Amino acid sequence: MGIKTNRELLTHAKKEGYAIGAFNINNMEILQAIISAAEAEKSPVIIAVSEGAIQYAGLRYIVSMVRTASEEVSIPLSLHLDHGKDLEIIRKVMEGGFTSVMIDGSHLDFKENISITKKVVEMAKERGISVEGELGRLKGIEEKVAVSEREAFLTDPGEAEEFVEKTGVDALAVAIGTSHGAYKFKGEPKLDFDRLEAIAKRLEIPLVLHGASGVPQQVLEKAERFGAKLPGAKGIPDEAIQKAIALGICKINIDTDLRLSFIGAIREILMTKPEEFDPRKILGPGREAIRQTVQAKMRLFGSSGKAIRNSP
Ligand code: G3H
Ligand code: 13P
Ligand code: ZN
Repeated sequence: MGIKTNRELLTHAKKEGYAIGAFNINNMEILQAIISAAEAEKSPVIIAVSEGAIQYAGLRYIVSMVRTASEEVSIPLSLHLDHGKDLEIIRKVMEGGFTSVMIDGSHLDFKENISITKKVVEMAKERGISVEGELGRLKGIEEKVAVSEREAFLTDPGEAEEFVEKTGVDALAVAIGTSHGAYKFKGEPKLDFDRLEAIAKRLEIPLVLHGASGVPQQVLEKAERFGAKLPGAKGIPDEAIQKAIALGICKINIDTDLRLSFIGAIREILMTKPEEFDPRKILGPGREAIRQTVQAKMRLFGSSGKAIRNSP
């Protein structure tokens, strides 16, 4: 099956009320883990690649690996640029075979964000590539933060409507209190679901949740048992993810949980088998740990079993 666009994948997800995981890759093992999880779960999947991942692995390596994967499996997948900021890189990935891009103008002011996002939509249109924009900044909601301060970084529903109208994006990433990485909240996890509901009421296009890793206790404990130091790490609870999907989130970005699973398994081998130096015996368990994590996410997101009906 060829590589699909996010537009194709997410239209189906929105119609049926589930979410598709966008999982970040940096190397072959991570890609293989995600693909084998998607096959086992019969789930559509979004392969997310950051500008940093492109710098690390090389654009042509990434595109050829993902093309190979798409030829070997029958599940629908897309190849998506995560947090694109550089117009030159965006142009290169479009020419190189990506089917979807994110333009992250969330650090810019509203007008500048609209202007750069519009440019990317223009570049994508002629190639049939989908575009995700982002409005609002990813930052955990602190207990003691004043409402006015929250308003300044979370996505405003009215602005979201204007942003989508003026830019023509296919999907919008919203800020409702999630953040990237393993340290999302100092106190109790808190997301602004009323805001998400208000945004979803105004918009027809699929909504995206970044910074959605759960930082599961058992994954954290394993990594720490074998020497990782991650004090205070905290993620988004599973129930919050389910609620976000029920309120209209159709694409969910996960990277941190893959990283934590990978390093837990690798640390275990390095610590328990110090005589081991075959990279396959070290990276292989890392790949297997990611596969299990991704399968669990697909079940949580409701995308398991959706691949068949989603096929042309
Ligand atoms: O949101 C960012 C992703 O976790 C990718 O991170 O830029 O370190 O590759 P990265
Ligand atoms: P996490 O750091 O929560 O996994 O978020 C990843 C992400 O949003 C990638 O774009
Ligand atoms: Zn992100």
